Amino acid sequence: MSKITSSTLLKFKQEGKKFTSLTAYDASFASAFDSEGVDVLLVGDSMGMVLQGHDDTLPVSVEDIAYHTRCVRRGVKRALLIADMPFMSYATPEQAMTNAAILMQAGANMVKVEGGHWLLETVTKLTERGIPVCAHLGLTPQSVHVFGGFKIQGRDANNAQRILDEAKAIEAAGAQLLVVECIPAPLAKAISEALTIPVIGIGAGADTDGQILVMHDLLGISSGYIPRFSKNYLKQTGEIREAIRAYIDEVEKGIFPGSEHTFS
Ligand code: KIV
Ligand code: NA
Repeated sequence: MSKITSSTLLKFKQEGKKFTSLTAYDASFASAFDSEGVDVLLVGDSMGMVLQGHDDTLPVSVEDIAYHTRCVRRGVKRALLIADMPFMSYATPEQAMTNAAILMQAGANMVKVEGGHWLLETVTKLTERGIPVCAHLGLTPQSVHVFGGFKIQGRDANNAQRILDEAKAIEAAGAQLLVVECIPAPLAKAISEALTIPVIGIGAGADTDGQILVMHDLLGISSGYIPRFSKNYLKQTGEIREAIRAYIDEVEKGIFPGSEHTFS
């Protein structure tokens, strides 16, 4: 069982094999996801909402992410492990380097940052110094207060063009992976086709190279609202490991996400 790296994901993309990703915050769930074959695990700053009970991701600290990355690391043998850089931890390239180093030393294989053009220098500097970067475009939750709510992005033509341009620029700057969140399916498809690097979607339709879900949504236990684009796999299977396998299977076969989970 060889470890998943950015090269493996690139190969999956070239072969047209859809891959799966889940958030994880502790060793036990990470081990279950990893051993069932989830390819990428993300220690997401979604922990601010699903673990800590906040209304958004802004209160999460670098130390929070580092602690959960150390926990998840102990449960992972095969999957690529990404750690989210939390709000304001990469406001300048210098802060990004200091904080990304903490997360890499906590056990991450890659860090994830939200944003486009303003981040290009940071992405290049991190990559040059040995820190692989996953970018994140579309609905970037750390900007929820700028967006005025958790709203789908890229609906009008100008906005869609800007997101596509930013995706190309961030790849050119050195990013090795891209997450697109809550954008219309045709835009996600265009981005996935335009880029060489793999694109992982959430609320972005079935045409991205991989899919990601917040584990609490997959298990149907997020408190409050469950986003329209997610799916409760525990409900349909009744068992956690079966739920994980059903998710992997439906992504591979192109069943998930279906049209009911997609913005057109
Ligand atoms: O924090 C998170 O869980 C994320 C995913 C939803 C992509 O960033
Ligand atoms: Na996140």
